[in-house]
Amino acid sequence: VVDIRKLYQQAGVFTYDPGYTSTASCDSTITFIDGDKGELLHRGYPIGQLAEKSHFLEVCYLLLYGELPSAAELEDFESRVTMHTMLHEQMQNFFRGFRRDAHPMAIMVGVVGAMSAFYHDSTDISDPWQREVASIRLIAKMPTIAAWAYKYSVGQPFVYPRNDLDYASNFLRMCFAVPAEEYSVNPILSRAMDRIFTLHADHEQNASTSTVRLASSSGANPFACIAAGIACLWGPAHGGANQACLEMLKEIGSPERIPEYLERAKDKDDPFRLMGFGHRVYKNFDPRATVMKQSADEVLELLGVENNKTLQVAKELEKIALEDPYFREKKLFPNVDFYSGIILEAMGFPMSMFTPIFAVSRTVGWISQWKEMIADPQMKIGRPRQLYLGETKRDYVDIENR
Ligand code: ACO
Repeated sequence: VVDIRKLYQQAGVFTYDPGYTSTASCDSTITFIDGDKGELLHRGYPIGQLAEKSHFLEVCYLLLYGELPSAAELEDFESRVTMHTMLHEQMQNFFRGFRRDAHPMAIMVGVVGAMSAFYHDSTDISDPWQREVASIRLIAKMPTIAAWAYKYSVGQPFVYPRNDLDYASNFLRMCFAVPAEEYSVNPILSRAMDRIFTLHADHEQNASTSTVRLASSSGANPFACIAAGIACLWGPAHGGANQACLEMLKEIGSPERIPEYLERAKDKDDPFRLMGFGHRVYKNFDPRATVMKQSADEVLELLGVENNKTLQVAKELEKIALEDPYFREKKLFPNVDFYSGIILEAMGFPMSMFTPIFAVSRTVGWISQWKEMIADPQMKIGRPRQLYLGETKRDYVDIENR
């Protein structure tokens, strides 16, 4: 009998690393994270500075091309993105083919995958011009696709993009404007939306980004690869965490009930975890959470809901947990998802839109990583190995003898 495990050992170096906790799948020059210091850098620039001083489309330029743009470069980039915000009119039929109660993420996976059938002139990945057009198209059209998925789910007519508006304002308008009613975007809400996009723009080799890289390593077209990324992001352990956190804060309901939930989170026999706390990489603090908390304060004050019960519970929970020896010892701090759900809900988004908004933001990260990978002359098809633990070789048994 052949011992397969011995065979593997004899074959030379073979690493077994479930969940890739300590295996680099690529090299990259885009994003750096130092989990112990709570540092996130895009092309070297700290996320806090970008969130405060920059805006989403400028960060997109930085991620895609490696440097901050000059004023002329930024203007050119913004006008190229703006030019592509419309969707092919025929794609409306595609939206209408879904059931009204379809999850917006299901619609987005389908519509983005279908873009390769509508935009043939940007699917040839060997052509740098086509790669560039595909990148711009995806960044430009994602807000329209997400907003239309939402409009369709609530039975309202689609709102076309307005190209005199900035990226975030345009998205808010496409989601919330209704015919025959005036709609003007509040600049504070627009700024908060832009910050949510900026804070989620890239996060190196997370599950959805790794999915995009793996899918594109086979030479698949960019629309198919981004659709794969959206599908991966949909999972509750990835893009769905802010919804889970908001649900938990609502379930806690009032600050008096916090100790009860903290005790549950510490109890190893209870599967409950404090949602919005902890991170695989950040073991000090999540720099995005700090900015998100500030945004939550601004938005709720603007909307006149500073006394929002959920925000009160969130702040009190953060305070108590940070002083608790269990959370301190395990280095569990609020992550980016702790406050984002509160902001999005206050803006009027249903929970089903939280992950689609994450997908709009992360598209630029996926594309930047895809471009980097395609341009690498060493690129190989992604083909992980496995540790086989099944049966060793055996002979087929005829059905009458089983
Ligand atoms: N509440 C209570 N205890 C926790 C929590 C939590 N949120 N997170 C981790 N722990 C404990 C674990 O029970 C474990 O304890 P042990 O050492 O006694 O066994 C220890 O801390 C380490 O936890 P791991 O699960 O090994 O840490 P890992 O790095 O694998 O997990 C994760 C990180 C998945 C984010 C985890 O902290 C968690 O489940 N958090 C809640 C969900 C969440 O907020 N996810 C969003 C992440 S951010 C993002 O995806 C954009």
